[in-house]
Amino acid sequence: MNKAFLKSFHVLRDVYVNKAFSAIALNKQLCNCKNQDKALVTKIVYGVLDNDLRLEYIISRYVRKMPKGDVLLYLKIGVYCLSDLSMPVYAVVNDVAELSKLSADRRTVGFVNATLKTVSEHIKQFDDYPEDSVERLSVLYSYPMWALRKLIKDYGFPIAEQIVSHPSDTRTTARFTFTATAEQIAERYQAEAEPTVFDDAFYVKGSLPAASDCTVQSLSSMAIARICARLAPTDGAFLDCCAAPGGKSVYVRQLRPDLSVTSCDVHPHRAELISSYARRMQVTLDVQCRDMTVFYPPWEGKFDVVLCDVPCSGFGVLDSRPDVKLFRENKDISDLMKTQYAILDNCSRYVGKGGALVYSTCTVFDNENGQNIRKFLKEHTDFEYGRTQLPEIPAADGQGFYQFLPYRDGMQGFFVAVLRRIK
Ligand SMILES: C[S@@+](CC[C@H](N)C(=O)[O-])C[C@H]1O[C@@H](n2cnc3c(N)ncnc32)[C@H](O)[C@@H]1O
Repeated sequence: MNKAFLKSFHVLRDVYVNKAFSAIALNKQLCNCKNQDKALVTKIVYGVLDNDLRLEYIISRYVRKMPKGDVLLYLKIGVYCLSDLSMPVYAVVNDVAELSKLSADRRTVGFVNATLKTVSEHIKQFDDYPEDSVERLSVLYSYPMWALRKLIKDYGFPIAEQIVSHPSDTRTTARFTFTATAEQIAERYQAEAEPTVFDDAFYVKGSLPAASDCTVQSLSSMAIARICARLAPTDGAFLDCCAAPGGKSVYVRQLRPDLSVTSCDVHPHRAELISSYARRMQVTLDVQCRDMTVFYPPWEGKFDVVLCDVPCSGFGVLDSRPDVKLFRENKDISDLMKTQYAILDNCSRYVGKGGALVYSTCTVFDNENGQNIRKFLKEHTDFEYGRTQLPEIPAADGQGFYQFLPYRDGMQGFFVAVLRRIK
């Protein structure tokens, strides 16, 4: 049996059935996987998840009755390999049919084999997508209709189309605590390295050790940490309200060792993630397990910079979390907005006069971003827009708020707003 297909199937099953996080499910399977299979398994897993709606749509054109469960999954793997990867047709059809022998029902093998053979004859010219322009976009780019409608409302059709059609950027970014060029990084880690907008960060291909002087971190996460680090006065106090697993807290502390950094999360196991990451990176943080929607009087007005990197729908980071498109629902957004606002509202009380409140998300919907900020400023006349300092990204530099869009900014779709306490 084709080992890469088998591993891909196990990961995808874990995601579809158990709603496992794709990255975690994938890492479990890649542990004892041959190097040559790793890249293919990763490609298939992310490819199938990212193209879920389109694959289902194509399959629906070639079957009388839509299959379910494992049978549908065998077909999704097969159709993805036939349509998006340059693999020999006979190998895909045979190997996926072989994979489907896992199924207890013997008829499955024949069904999978026959369906994939038919699909393989038409797939390269397939253009039988819905005629309605919104439905077509939704299917072509596997973007749920409810989410696409939101984008169209927020940005208009042409920009929504650019957002959803922008190809995934699967490059890994890592930052280093020592000064080096891309060539030096490549030589030291036997990995390919390319510069990014930040001088301490590189796109890397290859594996990095879990050391204290290098860490994988997205450019968007680094950008937020840099904004916070620049807002704080000398020897100031920084509060990271939703800090786990600790990416921004640790970076702020490394950029500004003079600051005291308090890092909170509501879940004990996630607060522990912050502590262990801080230990690995050899920085000191004051980690606290705390519900940041609940007022804690000793902290009133005590911090110079307060970051609310709130839980969000994740529609700005689909490159690394394509499963978001599968499991998020429209009704989640209003619940998230309530939590986001409650955290922002409560934590604003911890900002001292003249201090800064930074609000960030990794999503592109106005509901969770601008709408929360506009409401906050209406209800809190003691705050006004401040300014980001992000000279490495001129479009976002000096703004009160900025919505990053992958197609425009070459970075994940995150949002940041800087609010200044004036009284
Ligand atoms: C977007 S993540 C934070 C990522 C983090 N800032 C980093 O850069 O590594 C949001 C975090 O908010 C936490 N959270 C959710 N509700 C919370 C609450 N009421 N109080 C504090 N933390 C909360 C979640 O457990 C999650 O770890």
